[in-house]
Amino acid sequence: MRAVVYPGSFDPLTNGHLDVIERAARLFDRVIVAVAPNSEKHPLFTTEERCKLVVGATRRLRNVEVRAFDGLLVDYVRGCGAQAVIRGLRAVSDFEFEFQMALMNRKLDERVETIFMMPKDTYTFLSSRLVKEIAQLGGDVSTFVPRNVGRALLKRMQPSTPMRRR
Ligand code: PNS
Repeated sequence: MRAVVYPGSFDPLTNGHLDVIERAARLFDRVIVAVAPNSEKHPLFTTEERCKLVVGATRRLRNVEVRAFDGLLVDYVRGCGAQAVIRGLRAVSDFEFEFQMALMNRKLDERVETIFMMPKDTYTFLSSRLVKEIAQLGGDVSTFVPRNVGRALLKRMQPSTPMRRR
């Protein structure tokens, strides 16, 4: 049984992430999407919300599981019986940080391999940060994220109802 962990903040999941998940699901028996609590200080969605959004978007993929994870990634990977970590690489600019992280993880536990996967080229410009910015400014993100994520973003961005004067 070949299991792999795909870790990330997924705040929120984009079509680029989903593309990587689909590719991994074709290669591995078991893909664990591991949602980290917050790599930035103020995520738009809570860990639980982000997990639910990934679950909603991956329901049809039978060998994909979604879990929240805390602590060191290498410990988590060994704990769930996986052999490798998947990270998506969109462009050369991603490489430096990803390379550093992969080598550090190897230092921490040399049994954990990192596998880089490229999403479909049409998604190379996509990032959760840009999607949030566009949604926050009222732009249309429907082609960038799965439908359930688009709905959640719309709901989150709706201005709160103004207080009525007496
Ligand atoms: O989607 P992101 O924000 O690029 O994901 C980064 C993540 C969560 C994969 C990374 O920050 C991570 O692995 N965090 C767990 C803590 C850890 O093991 N840190 C050492 C990494 S070398």
